[in-house]
Amino acid sequence: MTKIAAEAQQQTHKQTQSAQTKDKHLQPVKVGILGLGTVGSGTVNVLHNNRDEITRRAGRAIDVTHVALRDIKKKRDCNTQNIELSTDPFSIVNQPDIDVVVELIGGTDIARELVLQAIANGKHVVTANKALIAHHGNEIFAQAQKHGVVVAFEAAVAGGIPIIKSIREGLAGNRIEWLAGIINGTCNYILTQMQQYGRDFAEVLSEAQKLGYAEADPSFDIDGVDVAHKLTILASIAFGIPLQYNKVYVEGIRNITQLDVSYAEQLGYRIKHLGFARRQAQGIELRVHPCFISQQCLLAHVDGVMNAVLVEGDAVGQTLYYGAGAGANPTASSVVADLVEVVRTLTTDSENRVPHLAFQADALSTTPIMSIEAVESVYYIRMQARDEAGVLAEVTQILSELNISMEAILQKDRAEHANHVHVVILTHKVPEKHLNTAIERIEALPGIAENVLRVRVVDL
Ligand code: HSE
Repeated sequence: MTKIAAEAQQQTHKQTQSAQTKDKHLQPVKVGILGLGTVGSGTVNVLHNNRDEITRRAGRAIDVTHVALRDIKKKRDCNTQNIELSTDPFSIVNQPDIDVVVELIGGTDIARELVLQAIANGKHVVTANKALIAHHGNEIFAQAQKHGVVVAFEAAVAGGIPIIKSIREGLAGNRIEWLAGIINGTCNYILTQMQQYGRDFAEVLSEAQKLGYAEADPSFDIDGVDVAHKLTILASIAFGIPLQYNKVYVEGIRNITQLDVSYAEQLGYRIKHLGFARRQAQGIELRVHPCFISQQCLLAHVDGVMNAVLVEGDAVGQTLYYGAGAGANPTASSVVADLVEVVRTLTTDSENRVPHLAFQADALSTTPIMSIEAVESVYYIRMQARDEAGVLAEVTQILSELNISMEAILQKDRAEHANHVHVVILTHKVPEKHLNTAIERIEALPGIAENVLRVRVVDL
């Protein structure tokens, strides 16, 4: 072959290759969904209903071609006509045609295996699984980076609120100082009903379960586990630290009574269950517990199942993100936003993508997480004290010996124990360690019945 003929052949080959690549980039992106419950069905519906808008944004259509589900015969809340259904989720992560896997089965064991397998097969992953990211995110992101794929998880925190993107990209110019989130709709619903209608905890919890707000295991909601998963993720992207679920201090709302809710109101506060993360000189506070927050604060007015996250950045000041934290369409909104992001990045160099945890993987910081004992706070404490001379004096003596000064003290309604009254104290700021000692000594007094309840006041 002459030199000219060889060059012409090479040119034709290049043109064919480029046409094929271009053609591939015009074809719909193929998605396999693992799990077709509330969020899975919502995702199929949103992709269908907003197909044109989504295609205009992503540059390519997004087609759900495969779905794995437990029971093929069960009636679903979405149209599955053109979707291949299977009861084997591994068949989907191993299906060569699929570009992106959406993991919506929940849990941490099988979900971890499936996601790692999808990554090893070079597929991008979108997940709404907060527990999976909180427990195994460090391993998953390392694998994703190795294989040059994206693992997107907007729907894992605060349902429809685009909080991951906001912190990771919108606030990228800031040093984040702290963030506080009402990020469990079930707890917020229970506390709101207790506050607004004087209802009891147990009764409202059972209603929240019937309304479908609660997790399969509602103790994940009311004992703070769900918030701890979400806070682990938020803190990591806010401060550029690895995911450290085991270091989060976690307390739920089981001990909060109708009385506490109404005392809070009288003292100018609301009780909210918060995930709170703050940068301090000694390290990072990472805590989940019920809080007294001032009625003046916007977060105090986030009611019902709604979620909100307040973030303080050094440049921007405070910004507040509010919206539906759960539900089919709100959560699907986040899943689909992630799918659009993945489609847009299909053609970008993997080194130049937004890092999974907001900061470059080799630039994560080793700042320690502080123990709760080292945290300083104002406290509300409530106890049942025998209604006779000297009992309160003993309590205040203990506080004074430990240098805990009081901002307010109230002797309230009669307690459940005969001849006892509820005594409520609001302290000034004090290290938790000192308060623990005080509570231990107060509980040992003969004039005090049962345990002392403590709620931390968070000043936002
Ligand atoms: N059980 C969770 C809630 C659902 O109540 O907020 C969303 O993560």
